Amino acid sequence: MSPKMTAPKILARKGGSKIKMVTAYDFPTARIADRAGADIILVGDSVANVVLGYEDTLAVTVDVMVHHTAAVARAKPNAMVLGDMPWLSYHTSVEDTVRNAGRLVREGGAEAVKLEGGRKRLPMIRAVLGAEIPVMGHLGLTPQSVHAMGGYRVQGKRAAAAYELVSDAKALADTGVFGIVLEGVPDVLAEIVTREISVPTVGIGAGRHCDGQVLVLHDVLGLGGGEYLPKFVRQYGSIADDSVALLEQFFADVETGEFPGEAETYHMPAESEEILRDLNQMASEPTAAADDLLADEAMER
Ligand code: KIV
Repeated sequence: MSPKMTAPKILARKGGSKIKMVTAYDFPTARIADRAGADIILVGDSVANVVLGYEDTLAVTVDVMVHHTAAVARAKPNAMVLGDMPWLSYHTSVEDTVRNAGRLVREGGAEAVKLEGGRKRLPMIRAVLGAEIPVMGHLGLTPQSVHAMGGYRVQGKRAAAAYELVSDAKALADTGVFGIVLEGVPDVLAEIVTREISVPTVGIGAGRHCDGQVLVLHDVLGLGGGEYLPKFVRQYGSIADDSVALLEQFFADVETGEFPGEAETYHMPAESEEILRDLNQMASEPTAAADDLLADEAMER
């Protein structure tokens, strides 16, 4: 069994072996991710799109994130459980931020939290770190800013914006985050950030130069509903198609009576079966006879 992954161990992986991160939102997907060797399981607010069918991530609340994080934590993975802070859980005040991060840890079993944004989040990040909760940053295409960005667009394509992002990354790293997710940015920008900061970068749509990579589990496995997939996703199979085929087999077996078979069936002792049949036949006869039969069965036991 590999030892438990922690924030300090992730930090120590800077420039070393690549960090493997994937999302999971419940007990079975957490078990799958952990068996496959994930370093970090992110209970992402992408649960909103991927599992709950919303258009964007803005719909999910701290309660929803606690619910899903707790299900993942119950799998007791060796991977670190990283809870995503949903929109508006760290935007209103430092106090709310610490309380909400604390709920993900205390009620959800998260071992660290992730939140989106650059320098304007520093007071919140400092406060959460002050409560002894490790924090991972998230820069670039930050889905919670979908309206402010005018859609899901690659960020930092022009030098000025890219330079702002480098400055954000440096500020977050200096403040003490143990890693930064870089999402939807040109590879050269991710390369520069990765070189310039002392904490690991984990890329998603950020090219190959990051210290690690993350994808949404349902995208990797082809477990979604066949909807649009971003360019940066590599789908390794189609669990959705496989599942449809397996269920079709089940339904066909139900139709033909092939299911359930002997191996899937319970039986009662032969003498009880006989009595049951007699009882059933005597349904219209005086109850004294039925009582005698039941007494006989009790004696035989
Ligand atoms: O919620 C999520 O899945 C994420 C990843 C895209 C990094 O934040």
